[in-house]
Amino acid sequence: MVLASILNSDLLNLAKVADTVAASGADALHYDVMDGQFVDNISFGLPVLSSLRPYTKQPIDVHLMISEPLRFVERFVKAGADLLSFHIESNSDPVKTLHCIHSCGIPAGIAVSPDTPVSSVMPLLSLLKKDDYILIMTVYPGLGGQAFMPRMLPKIRELSAVIQRDRLPLHIEVDGGINAETGILCRKAGADYLVAGSYVLGSAHPDAAVASLQLPLSGNDSDAAV
Ligand code: DX5
Ligand code: ZN
Repeated sequence: MVLASILNSDLLNLAKVADTVAASGADALHYDVMDGQFVDNISFGLPVLSSLRPYTKQPIDVHLMISEPLRFVERFVKAGADLLSFHIESNSDPVKTLHCIHSCGIPAGIAVSPDTPVSSVMPLLSLLKKDDYILIMTVYPGLGGQAFMPRMLPKIRELSAVIQRDRLPLHIEVDGGINAETGILCRKAGADYLVAGSYVLGSAHPDAAVASLQLPLSGNDSDAAV
């Protein structure tokens, strides 16, 4: 699945951006929320999501880069989140936050920043339900348009091995610096949800950019080479 991040898009024309995302063939829209505390930036929040929600038919994946996600779960679900992720490094209790998202009836994601080992989420995997996901950040959260960090690939592989071994019905999302080349590396490593911002919405041909992220992996590609 390809999720288009609108963080670096033409925010003066969000309806047009939503049209572009829908026409691009992306499966969902990725909505980055920053509070100026958890990361050193402030993006958009509840009122903008409430405005966008009735406009687009596409699922909206909300990525909370905020210090106290638990306080806001219900409000973001009410405003229109179809999937909701929070950071393991945040100040909220992860078990309570997961429970709260689940009780709202939508898939939950746990995001892992670059300096956090993936082992931090392993004890929580048994609490996750079908369609939940782990979001491996492939850049430091806070800004769009940064370069992909290849040293995140072993984290994806490690997580994917556990998901396969234990036959868990979970997804691995990657976010940051995803393009045709880095997208393939992530998919080979086991990721199946690719968030792409600048690569899709900064392209003259968003549909071609999305298609390049959806190409079938060739037989040899199933072995993680990098
Ligand atoms: C970074 C955000 C990302 C970002 C991705 O903090 O979580 O979703 O918008 O943008 P690109 O694809 O441009 O790196
Ligand atoms: Zn994001």
